[in-house]
Amino acid sequence: MQLILSLTTLATCAIAGSVLPRDSNTAVEDLAATRGSPKHWASGFIYGIPDNEDQVAQHWYEDIGFRWGRTGGAQYGAPKRGWNWGRTEYQGRLQSTLSNYRSMRKVGAECIIYPHDIWGTDSLNSSSYWPGDNGNWQPYEAFVKALMEDLASNNALEGLVWDIWNEPDIEVFWKRDTQRWIDLYIRTHKILRADSRFANVPITGPSLAWRPMSSNKWWTSWLQAIADAGTVPDQYSYHLEGDLNAQDNDPQYTNQSLGALLRQHGLPERQVSINEYAAFNEMIPSGYAWWISRLERFDWIGLLGNWQGGTTLHDLFANLLTKSRNPRDYGASDYAAAPGYHVYRYYARNMTGVRVGTTGSEDGRFDAYATLGEDRVRVLAGPKVRSGQWKVQVEGLAAAGYADASGSVDVESWEFQGSNAFAVTGPPAYKGVKTYQYSSGSVIIPVSQTNNYTAHAFEIAVKKG
Ligand SMILES: *[C@@H]1O[C@H](CO)[C@@H](O)[C@H](O)[C@H]1NC(C)=O
Ligand SMILES: *[C@@H]1O[C@H](CO)[C@@H](O)[C@H](O)[C@H]1NC(C)=O
Ligand SMILES: *[C@@H]1O[C@H](CO)[C@@H](O)[C@H](O)[C@H]1NC(C)=O
Ligand SMILES: *[C@@H]1O[C@H](CO)[C@@H](O)[C@H](O)[C@H]1NC(C)=O
Repeated sequence: MQLILSLTTLATCAIAGSVLPRDSNTAVEDLAATRGSPKHWASGFIYGIPDNEDQVAQHWYEDIGFRWGRTGGAQYGAPKRGWNWGRTEYQGRLQSTLSNYRSMRKVGAECIIYPHDIWGTDSLNSSSYWPGDNGNWQPYEAFVKALMEDLASNNALEGLVWDIWNEPDIEVFWKRDTQRWIDLYIRTHKILRADSRFANVPITGPSLAWRPMSSNKWWTSWLQAIADAGTVPDQYSYHLEGDLNAQDNDPQYTNQSLGALLRQHGLPERQVSINEYAAFNEMIPSGYAWWISRLERFDWIGLLGNWQGGTTLHDLFANLLTKSRNPRDYGASDYAAAPGYHVYRYYARNMTGVRVGTTGSEDGRFDAYATLGEDRVRVLAGPKVRSGQWKVQVEGLAAAGYADASGSVDVESWEFQGSNAFAVTGPPAYKGVKTYQYSSGSVIIPVSQTNNYTAHAFEIAVKKG
């Protein structure tokens, strides 16, 4: 960790370029360091979409700028248990996948498929056939080819991403050893790349539950094997849903650790996809704001994890939505905003203009994302689910028309509320305007966090002329 901490410190100084002393509780937004138009990288979630395509009105998808979904018919019982139970049961999961695919494409989102769910691992045990048992790959390869045919014949290749196998390092999804999964990975990659219809369908992997670290043999063996076989995915995917306080459960850590592993194995950099992020206790405004800020800094694809089961798994946008009646009352269509909805809506819809350079607080617990629009500077900030005192330092105010090096600046603020992911939640509460003195083009906004769930929006009007 020592190396990583000192690199972080260097990065802070380099990006900020300021002479002001800074403590470990300050996140920095540099308006002079623009980073292109907003892409809302973090606006994704796994499952969460009903098979009934009109059940959730389209505006709910659009409000949050939905960009990525992931689906495969998990947890349906008979007659939809997946390929292992025969063609009819496969059809049930395929049809669910295709329905979700259409719902995603309607709003321009990409669809990452979970073939292991279409296969049906959630209804299998260690005595079941697993791909490659007794050296027999035929049933698995027949499945891959049938799924490819069905996706192609249903016009479901555009905006599709093939995720070879989900979380083989978690016993429930894979009951064979590491090498068997690596063999499956390489075989599947080659089958996909041998079919020109799939040339533009990105392959994502390894989708491991655990983080890239030199001590993780799933990662190191896989990296060595794909380097040897020349089967590098188009995206490196993995999950960040670990312990709230785990130092490695953080993009700032894994960007370094994966980078080091890639160099060691002579592998190229690729788009990173955190195709499951945030534990359930982080699904409150503070946690969302922290994850959004982190994912935006690294330009990583992000999809919220989904901690619901059964039919609720296929509803509620992974807890960004709720229902004004009992949320477990599946089938009801009276959707309402859960705490996260307002955060993602502000992020996707209000935060317009260009993104600016940001640095999270050195203590690793507070982060902020910011945009510079024609009209306003907008900052979304939050701690990683805790209370305490932090600061947002906005630098480079000249870029927002504050031509004098020092003076005063008005900052308006809002608080995103909600401590319960199932509670119907109102829009952010307006907290008024405060006037701060700035110097060297830099203003410090104190953030006093008395609970562990609130996130904050700060806005500064751009001065014209
Ligand atoms: C294990 O799964 C198979 C299907 O692959 C099923 O036929 C069998 O009953 C299951 N065994 C147990 C003990 O649940
Ligand atoms: C992430 O790591 C790569 C090296 O793998 C490095 O080039 C890049 O600057 C890092 N990104 C950030 C935002 O630190
Ligand atoms: C976000 O934009 C909407 C629509 O313009 C506006 O009504 C709302 O007040 C904005 N929210 C904040 C927190 O500024
Ligand atoms: C957040 O605070 C609530 C009480 O408001 C507490 O029950 C919960 O455990 C806290 N969460 C964390 C991660 O500290």
